Parts: sequence; structure tokens; C-alpha cells
Amino acid sequence: MTEQSNGRQPVALVTGATSGIGRAVALNLARDGFEVIVHGRDAGRGAATVDEIAANGGRARFVAADLADADAVTALAAEVGEVEVLVNNGGISWFGPSAELDTETFDHLFDSNVRAAYQLVAALAPGMAKRGHGSIVSIDSMAGHVGLAGGAAYGATKAALTAMSRAWAAEFSPSGVRVNTVAPGPVFTAESKRDLIENLAGTTLLNRGAHPEEISEVVAFLASDKASYITGAVIPVDGGRTAV
Ligand SMILES: NC(=O)c1ccc[n+]([C@@H]2O[C@H](COP(=O)([O-])OP(=O)(O)OC[C@H]3O[C@@H](n4cnc5c(N)ncnc54)[C@H](OP(=O)(O)O)[C@@H]3O)[C@@H](O)[C@H]2O)c1
Repeated sequence: MTEQSNGRQPVALVTGATSGIGRAVALNLARDGFEVIVHGRDAGRGAATVDEIAANGGRARFVAADLADADAVTALAAEVGEVEVLVNNGGISWFGPSAELDTETFDHLFDSNVRAAYQLVAALAPGMAKRGHGSIVSIDSMAGHVGLAGGAAYGATKAALTAMSRAWAAEFSPSGVRVNTVAPGPVFTAESKRDLIENLAGTTLLNRGAHPEEISEVVAFLASDKASYITGAVIPVDGGRTAV
């Protein structure tokens, strides 16, 4: 997808694009011809992603917003305006004994991972439906499909995201908007999570963790017209972890 019928370059909003999977998705979509709105909180990492896209000959701009702040997410949706692609990637994880998760952190998980995606789809999908096309991809996790010790609340946010995506597919796909989720297994992103990822990597059939690009390629496919008959799907990209 490189040009709209009105001549405008198609636009993709990628939340949490200042690092990890989101950053890889932003780079991928820019290569595929999208103007990318790089979202996150850290302006320095945002600028680095935008600069890398520009150095590769693409177009991008950074927009900051705290996903846990409902008013900030409303402002983000207003700022981006019309988009052809929305990637709900930004979010946080928390693993630990259930007895140690305080209610504030529990709410923060759901605000960032669930409510923000709901707000963005509610604000942006009707425009896509009106224009008759669009693609929404949300980043779930294998934690939303199997029981991981210490991941009850995080897994619940991801299961919620996937449940919402199926409902959004039912709501918006008759108007030409495809809505899908990608459920990664362990992916090497933030250095602080390396031990957790290494442990989970050993539970996959491929016996390794993924690189962010192995997730972003699938997201870019779902965002593209190559996936024109795929909607309401959950695509595991987890080294076979949830197959067994
Ligand atoms: N890594 C894995 O193993 C794995 C596996 C399955 C699913 N996932 C999912 O994939 C997504 C990306 O994970 P990742 O590992 O790539 O994470 P990451 O490297 O920690 O990056 C998280 C991104 O989300 C943004 N973000 C987090 N909380 C935010 C908030 N409240 N407001 C605005 N931006 C926020 C961060 O922006 P700033 O830093 O600029 O604030 C950053 O760009 C998440 O939804 C995660 O649950 C990850």
C-alpha cells in the first residue's frame, strides 16, 4: 500500500513505537510506504525511531501520550486524525506472585493495555469504516492463551484485547476494516526482561526467543493488502509454544 486514491500517503499509527516490537513495526511499515506516527512517551527514543525511518527514506513523526491517561489518549486520537492502519502495541507487563500485585498496578495494566486500545479503536475505526477500508492489528501475547505463573493480570489484559478485537472485527469488518491480533511468544526487547525471556524461550518448540523483526513482519503482512481476506484472526507467533 503506497498511495491512497486521494493521492495522500497512507498513515499508520503505531503505539509504543519507541522501542522493542513497536519500533520494529514502525520501521517495517515505513519501508512498506506508510507515513508512520511513532507513539510513545520517551521523546529521545521517539526521535531516534523517526530519524532511522527518515534515514531509510521514509516519513514519520513522533507523538507523545501516556496510554494510562484517558485524556491523553483522547488527545492522541485527535492529533493523528485519519489513519489507514492502527497498531495497538504499546503496553506494560508485570510478572510476580499474585499476592504481590497491588491494585494500583493492576489498574495501570488494564488502563495501558486494554482501555487505551479501546479508546483508540473507538475514535479511529468509525472513520476507517466510513472510508471503507483500514487495518487494525493489536499485540496480544501467549500469556493471554496459556497460564503463566505470575502472569494472571497481564494475561487477562491480553485475553481482553483479543476478545475486543474479535468484537471489533464483527463490528467493523462488514464496512471493510480488517481487525486482527498477533500473539507473540517471548521476544528479546527490554534488557530488564532478559532473564524472563530466556526462561520462556526454553519452553517454545523452537527453543529460542524471537527477535522483534520476526513479530513485525507478521504485523506488516496483516496491515497490508496481502492479508485482504484475514479478519477476526489471532495469529500466534510464538515458536509453537501454544500448540502444545
Ligand atoms: N517482549 C515480549 O516478550 C512480548 C511478548 C508478547 C507480547 N508482548 C507485547 O508486545 C508489546 C510491546 O512489548 P515490548 O517487549 O516491545 O515492550 P518494550 O520494549 O518495553 O516497549 C514498550 C513500548 O510501549 C510504550 N509504552 C509502555 N507503556 C506506555 C504508556 N503508559 N504510555 C505510552 N507508551 C507506553 C513504551 O514507550 P516509552 O518507553 O516511550 O514510554 C515503548 O515504546 C506489549 O504490548 C507487550 O505486552 C511482548
